[in-house]
Amino acid sequence: MDQNELKKAAGIRSVDFIKDGMTVGLGTGSTVYFMVEELGRRVKEEGLNVQCVTTSDRTWDQAVGLGIKMLDVNAVNDIDLTIDGADEIDDNYQGIKGGGAAHLKEKIVALNSKQVIWIVDQSKIVNTLGKFPLPTEVIPFGSQKTFDVLEREGLNPKFRKDDNGELVRTDSNNFVIDLYLEKVEHPHLLANYLDSITGVVEHGLFLDMVNTVIIGNEDAPKVIENVR
Ligand code: 5RP
Repeated sequence: MDQNELKKAAGIRSVDFIKDGMTVGLGTGSTVYFMVEELGRRVKEEGLNVQCVTTSDRTWDQAVGLGIKMLDVNAVNDIDLTIDGADEIDDNYQGIKGGGAAHLKEKIVALNSKQVIWIVDQSKIVNTLGKFPLPTEVIPFGSQKTFDVLEREGLNPKFRKDDNGELVRTDSNNFVIDLYLEKVEHPHLLANYLDSITGVVEHGLFLDMVNTVIIGNEDAPKVIENVR
């Protein structure tokens, strides 16, 4: 199975956790894409009755196109379950997210969810976080100053650019600065530090946030429940 097939298997398996009447948070990324396709199929073919909130414009457009009922996150009381991807998951089920520049909305939705499932292929499982550059989202005003703060702290920052060399804009019109760290030995300390920097709107350390991890494997997807 190639990586895409593993992502697809994990995505499809995760939809088993969505029950009739739920309010569901839909994550962002190529693994989530398969989950949303399967959810759309079940809504259409099986009459599964759910309402959903999104973590990105991309996912919103896909879901609306599939006929999934979508609501603004402010319009729902509780989010029963959010299913999202991840860029890295370590031994303690801490994660890095934001490879798709959606981590600000993803974190808001995750923090307001009763349950969070991450769907990944095996390549995302690591011993220690940090090989994947840690995304931050920064407001454009003074962003060079924010960059300088991160650089002085030795966090090896780099503005994220697209294929045309333009600065990437998030759905909230902010910039992304990735931190090339190689190893995050103390994720909570780093998260607290990044939380304290004016100009950093959010970072991609998702700590103590996931309940279930579904990993696409060569045979059946592996489901690890109750990780916290
Ligand atoms: C987007 C994310 C994604 O969930 C993460 O990048 C994983 O994406 P993919 O499933 O495409 O590998 O955090 O901001």
